[in-house]
Parts: sequence; structure tokens; C-alpha cells
Amino acid sequence: MDSLRPQKHTQPYSAFRIPHSAFRAGPALITGGGTGIGRGVALALARRGVDVALVGRRAGPLAATARAAAAYGVRAVALPADVADPMVRAALPDRVRAALGPVRILFHCAGVAAGGELGDLADGTLEQAIAVNLSAPLDLTRRLLPDLVAGRGMVVLLASETALVPLPAAAVYSAGKAGLRAAAESLRYELAPQGVRLLVVYPPMTATAMTRGMAAAAGLPRFPLAHPAAVGERIVRALESGRTTLPPTPGDRLLAWAYTLAPWLVRAVLQSQRTRFRQMFAENQVEGNGD
Ligand SMILES: NC(=O)c1ccc[n+]([C@@H]2O[C@H](COP(=O)([O-])OP(=O)(O)OC[C@H]3O[C@@H](n4cnc5c(N)ncnc54)[C@H](OP(=O)(O)O)[C@@H]3O)[C@@H](O)[C@H]2O)c1
Repeated sequence: MDSLRPQKHTQPYSAFRIPHSAFRAGPALITGGGTGIGRGVALALARRGVDVALVGRRAGPLAATARAAAAYGVRAVALPADVADPMVRAALPDRVRAALGPVRILFHCAGVAAGGELGDLADGTLEQAIAVNLSAPLDLTRRLLPDLVAGRGMVVLLASETALVPLPAAAVYSAGKAGLRAAAESLRYELAPQGVRLLVVYPPMTATAMTRGMAAAAGLPRFPLAHPAAVGERIVRALESGRTTLPPTPGDRLLAWAYTLAPWLVRAVLQSQRTRFRQMFAENQVEGNGD
């Protein structure tokens, strides 16, 4: 499907080798680090000499990303774990510390789209999605706070445009991301005085397992999709430059602005596209995340 093929990431890797004092302390824990944007982030950090611990359910993608990261000369470990499980989350900090030492950079990239209208969702989808998209980032941040405070570390949360403009057939995903956004804004008051930096990211539409097939399912010729490696690099650069928010694309900002000024208008347009969104977010499009 040519229209969904990511654009080539042309910038030479050597251009990214920017030693930065903020990263001297590493290591980084990246949930969802085996695929998509999380993989892009992991490799962008590895290029800067940061050790990385990669978390996800599937060992295969984690091992592949760990190998690619290790090629930059850093320590890279794959830690298979289901972050939806509170017991697994409780054990994770010690597993990372045993492998790499105290965590200094915490990236929450794990996510599930959990699309579909509420009436179409299978049993358990709602709980799983809220656990991965909302509970896990907050709980893991809480559990790793002593490391982050001790090392004046950094936390990165991946929100979504749906946190600003909830879409049809995406109630659960929109709720999780809006909750994450609100939690992040509250966390700023708590983390800043403790010397922990927080970056909230609104990624552009990116060519990953999560979006694969959405355009085709909706009968659209194409979406403009960013390359996950380029998005990962951009996020790490934003972190390096001390930003606290990586805002949505100009187009997404325009939509959010229109939604604030004339919500009835945006809702009417989205309502007219309900069938398309149902097809795009159909649960079978987003389960599995098989990158
Ligand atoms: N792609 C976009 O256009 C876009 C736009 C806005 C926001 N985002 C957000 O960006 C983040 C990354 O998504 P992506 O686009 O890169 O998609 P992706 O490649 O599907 O990444 C999602 C990652 O989450 C992991 N994951 C899912 N459930 C998990 C669980 N229970 N425990 C541990 N790991 C789990 C997956 O690994 P396993 O399946 O192996 O567990 C996978 O590596 C998500 O939070 C997403 O909501 C993406």
C-alpha cells in the first residue's frame, strides 16, 4: 500500500550525535519501546549514548530494537512485561534497576487504540485500554519517582489530538488520552519543585501498527503519515531543548482551535463522518499492534 508507506528518513544518523548534559545520567525506560514511536525514541536516545530498557508484551520486537540500540554502543535490555497488570508494574522498577541502575528518563510510549463505538467493544477492551493508556503511565511514574527525583530526571507522556478533540468511535481512547493530559498538567505542580522535568507530546499521525490500515479501512486514498524514527528524534530533541510540551501539528491545532470556538460546527462535520470513523477505528484494525 504505497500511500501508507513511510517517507524515507533521510537525515544522517551522525547529525544526531549531540552530547547533552541533560542526558549524561541515563538510563531510560521506554514502555512500548519495541515498535513505532517508542522504537524511534529508543534509537534516538541510544544515538546520544543513553542506555535503554525496552518494555512491551512481545519479546521479538523488543529484542530487535535492543539489538539496533546496542549497535550505538549503549547497554540495551528487553524487559517483556504487560503494563496493564498492576503486579507486573510493581516488579518493573527492580527489574530495570538490576539491569541498568536507577532510571533517569521515563518514556510512556505504550498505548492501545481501543477503537470502535462503545456498543461494539468486546468485554475487557475498555479496562485494558484505560489500564495501558492511563493507569500504567501514572502508576509507573509513581513507582519510579524516587529514582527520578534523585537523578533530577525526566518523564515523557504521549497524549493525542483526541485529548483535545474527541473523535467519533473513539470514546475509550479519547477518554484515556484526555485523562492523561489532565493528569500531566496536574503533575507539573508536583514534579517541577522536585526537579523532575515533564514533557507532554501530541504526536502527528505516524505510520505505526496503530494507524496501519486506517486510511484503507475508511476508504480514503491516503493520510499524511510521519515516520516513527523522525517522530522519535523530534521528541528527544524537544526533551533536550527543555520544552515542556510538543504541541500538535498546525492542522491539528487549527482543528482544536475551531473546536473551542465553534464546537457545534466541528461536531456536525465529525458526525457526518461517523461511518468513516467507525471503519477506521474498528476494533480489529487496532488489536494486536503487530509491528
Ligand atoms: N501513531 C500515531 O499516529 C499516534 C498519534 C497520537 C498518539 N500516539 C500514541 O503514541 C504511542 C505509541 O503508539 P505507536 O503509534 O507507536 O503504536 P505502536 O507501534 O502500536 O506502539 C504501541 C506499543 O505499546 C505496546 N503495548 C501495548 N499494550 C501494551 C501492554 N499491555 N504492555 C506493554 N506494552 C504494551 C506495544 O507493544 P506490545 O504489543 O508488544 O505489547 C507497542 O510497542 C501510543 O501511546 C499512541 O496512543 C500515536
